Amino acid sequence: MLSDNLKNGDDLGLDASVHIRKARTMDVPGMQRLINGFADKGAMLHRSLSELYENIRDFFVVIEDDCVVGCAGLHVSWKDLAELKSLAVDESAQGRGFGKELIRTCLNEAEEIGITRVFALTYVPALFEKNGFEVVDKAMLPRKVWTECVYCPKFPDCGEIAVIIGIGGASIHESSAGNQIVLEPIRR
Ligand SMILES: CC(C)(COP(=O)(O)OP(=O)(O)OC[C@H]1O[C@@H](n2cnc3c(N)ncnc32)[C@H](O)[C@@H]1OP(=O)(O)O)[C@@H](O)C(=O)NCCC(=O)NCCS
Repeated sequence: MLSDNLKNGDDLGLDASVHIRKARTMDVPGMQRLINGFADKGAMLHRSLSELYENIRDFFVVIEDDCVVGCAGLHVSWKDLAELKSLAVDESAQGRGFGKELIRTCLNEAEEIGITRVFALTYVPALFEKNGFEVVDKAMLPRKVWTECVYCPKFPDCGEIAVIIGIGGASIHESSAGNQIVLEPIRR
């Protein structure tokens, strides 16, 4: 069960110069550099400074030697549903478990605040699947989710894949958001 995994998860053995914490306004320029650097390569969506400041409480950052080397946000969509967004780890810091730890940190927070399903729209579903998410048909995500997508220049052909996870034993098959139901995971 996810909550058990979260509580008993592997110790990353982060050294003293690395830690994960809630983002602060001073982190925003570093977060934007990180996110938009990958966005320029088509790996994720660009984020404006105002968007990051306005949503700063959604975000966690990985700090190494006082620099932002990773970030991810948990954005609440509805009473039981949240989106994990803008997951990015600097190329120099990849492969050290920071992406996985950011996902786990967001899921922990989701559980703490009563969210039972977390989804992401991603080009790297394998990373999420390794962390317990399942691939689902994007069209089956609740209507509420599309509020941001419709403003995206890539809409509706962005190619992003929807992944979702139930928290604390919750099923992914039902959601109250927008009265739509998340259907069966896609078997691949
Ligand atoms: C995707 C990303 C966040 C991964 O960060 P990371 O810190 O290197 O990931 P981790 O070291 O925690 O890896 C966790 C696991 O995912 C796997 N993984 C990492 N990146 C992957 C990828 N692109 N595709 C498939 N699996 C991947 C790792 O092999 C590892 O597997 P393991 O647990 O079996 O060893 C990072 O590569 C990145 O920022 N990429 C560019 C932006 C992006 O694509 N973000 C995702 C948008 S939703």
